[in-house]
Amino acid sequence: MSDQTPAEQWNAAASGWARWAERAGDYIGPATEKMLDLAGVAPGNRALDVGCGSGEQTVLVAHRVGATGHVLAIDIAAPMIAATEKTLAVAGLTNVSTRVCSAEALTDDTLFDTAISRLVLMLIPDPLAAVRAVWTVLRPGGSFAAIVPGNPERDIFASTALDILARHGGTTVSPHTPGSFRSLVDPDRLSTLFQSAGFVDVAVSAEPTLRRLDTAATATAMIRDGFAFFKALVGKLPPQGQEAAWADVENALRRFEGPDGLAVPGELNLVVGRKPPG
Ligand SMILES: C[S@@+](CC[C@H](N)C(=O)[O-])C[C@H]1O[C@@H](n2cnc3c(N)ncnc32)[C@H](O)[C@@H]1O
Repeated sequence: MSDQTPAEQWNAAASGWARWAERAGDYIGPATEKMLDLAGVAPGNRALDVGCGSGEQTVLVAHRVGATGHVLAIDIAAPMIAATEKTLAVAGLTNVSTRVCSAEALTDDTLFDTAISRLVLMLIPDPLAAVRAVWTVLRPGGSFAAIVPGNPERDIFASTALDILARHGGTTVSPHTPGSFRSLVDPDRLSTLFQSAGFVDVAVSAEPTLRRLDTAATATAMIRDGFAFFKALVGKLPPQGQEAAWADVENALRRFEGPDGLAVPGELNLVVGRKPPG
């Protein structure tokens, strides 16, 4: 593993993530709409987006809350916030404010009606602190919905790359390691996390998905460019060792290439909880 902190990893990967994020719509779009439905994002809401990255889901939230609503998008990495601001400007949205802030350190003077977080909580070393912070800034009765990676045996896209990179890096990516990509793949653990933070009516569902790209080479370039956690697994290897690891990833992904391009199955966990009313 590289010695960088998660924030440093994401600072370094921000431009790469932003370059590829808009091509992930097929993969994560349907689950994202479900997450917004479960969180109850509605016109006029004050909404929170935790770990906004380059802002693709922020745009969807901003459209849902409309001109009478407002979104606060936070991220630990300043370059990610800059990328979100660019995405918002391109979309012509003015009902969003942004803040460089870690989820765990979140405070606000005004409570939010609803909160969402996409592909962030599993990366946080103390996810309970993060989910508790969200609970604290939600209004009573407000919901928080989040997406994290699903069962590794069905999340073939991530597992193919992760296991190869971890093997080359001399490590493993365990569901028992806080902050690892797999730390919240267990639905029971995810549910307990939300309940421990004070949420009620907690529900977790597994959402099957498909990663579509043109080739295995493109998929490998995407992971290499923008997936900070994956890159860090081989970050300490000499350049030759890193090249060998990425070549193995590309070779392994090639078996998912067909006449219509690359299609690799994945799975996401979708969790929702409600802050008790009053
Ligand atoms: C995999 S990206 C997901 C970005 C975006 N939500 C999406 O789905 O496209 C993870 C994001 O979480 C941010 N992040 C990581 N740890 C965080 C923390 N403790 N608090 C807030 N953001 C964090 C990273 O900087 C990065 O932008």
